[in-house]
Amino acid sequence: MPLPTIFKNKLELPVITAPMFLVSGPELIIAACKSGVAASFPAPNSRTIEELDQWLEQITTEIALFRKNNKNAKVAPFALNLIVHPANGRLNAELDLVEKYRLPFVITSVGNPKHAVDRLHDIGTTVFHDVISIKHAHKAIAAGVDGLILVCCGSGGHTGSLNPFAFVAQVREFWQGPLVVGGSVNNGETVRAIEVIGADMAYMGSRFIATKESMADQRYKDTLKDCSADDVITTNKFTGINANFLRPSMVEAGLDPDDFDQQDVTGSKVIPWKTILSAGHGVGNINDIPTVAELITRMKKEYEEAL
Ligand SMILES: Cc1cc2nc3c(=O)[nH]c(=O)nc-3n(C[C@H](O)[C@H](O)[C@H](O)COP(=O)(O)O)c2cc1C
Repeated sequence: MPLPTIFKNKLELPVITAPMFLVSGPELIIAACKSGVAASFPAPNSRTIEELDQWLEQITTEIALFRKNNKNAKVAPFALNLIVHPANGRLNAELDLVEKYRLPFVITSVGNPKHAVDRLHDIGTTVFHDVISIKHAHKAIAAGVDGLILVCCGSGGHTGSLNPFAFVAQVREFWQGPLVVGGSVNNGETVRAIEVIGADMAYMGSRFIATKESMADQRYKDTLKDCSADDVITTNKFTGINANFLRPSMVEAGLDPDDFDQQDVTGSKVIPWKTILSAGHGVGNINDIPTVAELITRMKKEYEEAL
């Protein structure tokens, strides 16, 4: 199945930089698109709708200018990531902004994407939805999404629990459309591996935290360099849903990572995503803090050599 036309001749690598709370902002998005990988950011990263409007203005203007001045460059599209759960009281205002900027690409998470799909298909926006189970993949297809993102075990943020080999193979039995896979994809070889197992694009989060352009602070970036897969703890005690967090950040916050409960989490130094840092199992291979352009150049070489 070919990728949707929004990606045609616009990608240096079949990669989407995944949306990350408090991490993905305009600088990261612009750098990724200019380097030829699709980008995305969660709408809640802009605290107000007015700020979201400003961010979209900035991103679309800078990318359009770059495209105009670099006619031969592959400039990738970016997506706004919308939380479609009923708890998101801003959803309609966010959809209004997608319409205002005629965004070609949206990624929906957490909930049923049908309302967003119905509105966005009217303006020709491509909608991918992220899922962690076979059941949710069926539901997203029934809602009319254009692509599925399989968030597998070992992902940063709210993680899935399914093995990517099993997940891709089983979804491919009933879905021939665009398929994206996330969870510890950190280099060109793993991007290639995702294509070999039958998917189309890689969804990369944690690796991009440790780039110059991410909004993460230096402590977060340095912690990633120091951790291995053994430091990743899967727990639902911070957010109610299973997510992967880094052991050293829990220790720093005064928690015993091997023995803590919800009561300990109410301590003042414990702020999930801010003092308690998240990353996927792939963290052990994050050893530097390059610019996005440097990272993509390196990954392209790895991808080309991994044949
Ligand atoms: C710090 C952090 C924050 C995240 N925030 C979001 C989010 O706001 N919305 C979302 O759909 N996914 C979020 N994710 C999940 C990513 O979009 C993606 O599924 C995941 O990073 C892929 O696994 P990887 O980190 O191993 O590459 C987050 C991940 C991380 C590491």
